[in-house]
Parts: sequence; C-alpha cells; structure tokens
Amino acid sequence: MNIGVNIPAFSKSEELFHDGPFFKERWDLFKEIIESEETGFFHVNKKENLLTESIRIFDLFKHKKYFVHVGIGGSSLGAETLVQSLGKRPFRNNIFFLNNVDPDETHDILEQIDVKETLFYFVSKSGGTAETLAGLALIINYLKEKGIKSEDFRDSLVFATDPEEGDLKEMADALNLETLTIPKNIGGRFSVLTPVAFLPSLFASIDIKALCRGAEMIKKRLLEENFEKNILLKCASFLYFLKKEQNINQTVLMPYSSKLKSFSQWFVQLWAESLGKRDSYYKKNVFEGLTPLGAYGVTDQHSQMQLFMEGPRDKCLVFIEIENFKEDFKLQNSFSQKALKKLNHHSLGGLLKAELKGTLKALETERRPFIHLSLKELNEESVGSLFLFFQSLTVLMGNFLDINPFNQPGVEMGKKFSFEFLSQVNPPSEQEGY
Ligand code: PA5
Repeated sequence: MNIGVNIPAFSKSEELFHDGPFFKERWDLFKEIIESEETGFFHVNKKENLLTESIRIFDLFKHKKYFVHVGIGGSSLGAETLVQSLGKRPFRNNIFFLNNVDPDETHDILEQIDVKETLFYFVSKSGGTAETLAGLALIINYLKEKGIKSEDFRDSLVFATDPEEGDLKEMADALNLETLTIPKNIGGRFSVLTPVAFLPSLFASIDIKALCRGAEMIKKRLLEENFEKNILLKCASFLYFLKKEQNINQTVLMPYSSKLKSFSQWFVQLWAESLGKRDSYYKKNVFEGLTPLGAYGVTDQHSQMQLFMEGPRDKCLVFIEIENFKEDFKLQNSFSQKALKKLNHHSLGGLLKAELKGTLKALETERRPFIHLSLKELNEESVGSLFLFFQSLTVLMGNFLDINPFNQPGVEMGKKFSFEFLSQVNPPSEQEGY
C-alpha cells in the first residue's frame, strides 16, 4: 500500500523541509511519544489478542441478522467509516449506528430490526458516557418489552469497554456478558483499529487483519523514511508553516470518493478534539487548534468549493485520490447535445479524475494551498494505512503546536455539567436492578 503526497511548488514549502533544529527536535519528541507504551494506537503489531478476541465474539454471534452499534464520538465514527468505505453487502445494510440520543432516529432503527435476531454492541471506553448508557437503558427496556429475560441478555448484548473499570464493565460482569477490550492506552478517537471497529467490520465482511497490516506497513515507512522524504513530516511541517506564517488555520479534508465520506467525519473529530485546546505541554493558557472541515468530491465542488477557491485565505485543502476504482462505467452515448457529447468516450471514473485535476489546477491558479494524497486503490490495507497516517499526523501536529493531542478537557467539562443538570432536574433514586 502506498500513500503518495504532492504539495504544489508555489506554496514555498520546500524551504520547510530542511532539517532545521525545530523540526529535528520535535520529530525526535514525536518518535519518543509514538513509540512509548502509553501511545497504544501506534503499536499495531501488538494487537494480535484484540484481533483474536474480536473474531471469537464474531463467531459466537455471526448467525445474527442485524447488528446495532451503540456509541458516540470515537466509539462510533471509526466503525461507521469502515462499514461505509469497505463494508460488503448484504450484511452492510443490516448494520445500524445508534450514535445520538435522538428518539425519532432510535425509533426508526428499532423498527427495522427483529430484536431476537439482533446483536446490540455497546461501546464506551470510559463506560460512563451518558448517551451510550441512555442507549443501553432503552435497549434493555426494549428487550424486556419483547419478552427477553435478563438471564438471556447475554444472547443479545456485547460490550466493548475498559477491561478493568467503569459502569459498563460492572454491568457486563453482573449480567455475565461477553466483553471486548478497549486497551487503556488507546483513547476513543484513536481506537478505530481495536475491537471498537473490529466487531462491526467482521459483520460487514471486512478483513481486519489486512486493515492492521496496512497500518503496520505505513507505520514502518513513517518511521524509516529519511527527513527530506518523510511524507508525514512533509505534511505536518507544511500545515505548521501555513499556520504560523500565513495564519491558515483551517484544514479541509476532501477525499474524492463517496465511500470515504465518513472518513472526513472521522477526521473532523480527530483533528478538532485532539488539537483544539489550551492544555499544552510547555505553556499554559494558550488557545490553539486547526479547525477541520469535512468535504468530499466531486459532490462538494458544487457546494463548498466556491468558498475554498475564493473565500478567506485561511484554509488548506487535503485531497485524497483513489487512483484505481474497482468498477467503472462507460459514458459513451450518441446524443447530439453539447454537454453529453463531451462525455462520450469517457468513463465515470475518468470524469471524477478530470474533475479532481481541474480543481487542483484551479487552486494552483488561485494560489490556494493544498496537499494531494493518493491511494492506489480503496481496500483494507489502504484504509488501515490512512487511519494510521492521519492519527500520526495529528500527534505530530500536536507536537509542533505544543498541544497534548490525547486528552479532551473541553468535552469532559460538558459531560460533567450535563450529568449535574440531570441530577438537579431529577435526583437519582435507589436502583431496582436490571
Ligand atoms: O475521542 C474521544 O475520547 C471521545 O470522542 C470519546 O470517544 C467519546 O466521548 C465517547 O467516550 P467513551 O468511549 O468513553 O464513551
């Protein structure tokens, strides 16, 4: 698997890649962080047990006809991305994500499943997230309504959570449920290559070993490539330069692929929650961050692209091109109308490529900065690489910006206040049991 990177010459980026002391020092620090045992997401090769336990649980439940994934933020977005980008039919259509506390959507999902033939997968690293626990409460009520007894919940529920603590872990033990591990050293938005997304991926017939292989391959390249050639360092130093020198502090991720539409959403969370904060390694009270925007081509050429092309000069676009599509369609036609005639002799994939090329040229003309990444094709290995690449880029950017990318104090504060608010409205009473 290959990720190619192209940064246009007009962006003055070349001078950045000289191995100046700042980049050298930060790169060394990055390697220290990334290789330490505390940074779990990077140690793909040590995930054998996570793969094995996910496969074991899948084997136990693979007869189920529906799969409902309940989680939020990092406990859902990676799984959604995988199912959307690589999931295979027919089962893909029977996988649902309860990733919000929206009663109407919840009703909609429950209407589409047969509860006795459904596996409900509850994912929460902390085990204490209000939205996910709300989902749990309502699903348990629903199971009871459908006549399922608590001693049989283990046939319908599987949890993924911290292996030692949290409400979910406690409940799993009380109900004697199968559980999967979210390792202590892997936080929500870095957890896509763990059981969080492995189990739904298995239901969607995605080869999870190949995903990890792809991640492992890019990881080697990132660590081994020399300073001038290193694609990770190139991208990070370019983004850093744009921010510091040109006040370009918005990052637009725009894959040219409908299948990677959710990848943009996954990236938005990763970039925003990791880099937007004042907590820092070295300073205090510095408000930092790069604002992410999600888009996908070519669709957003007819929407946000106008802003990207001629709006404020505060954005860098990151494109992902898929070089070879698995399928293609001829646009050959014998119509005499001008626009249709122009499509003759081309293919759908050819049109998409031409539109991407045209966009890059227009951006160059407008001297708008961009990074152009390319994947040979969309498959397990390339998507695995892409996940690891963007996670590593986030950590390296955090390093450049003096930000700890692994915490989320702003989010935690909101969670705490929400619970406090609920307690004021209706104080918790003694529990009656399950
Ligand atoms: O990236 C993160 O840490 C967050 O987005 C969490 O994934 C999200 O808040 C859900 O947390 P939890 O998995 O503890 O339920």
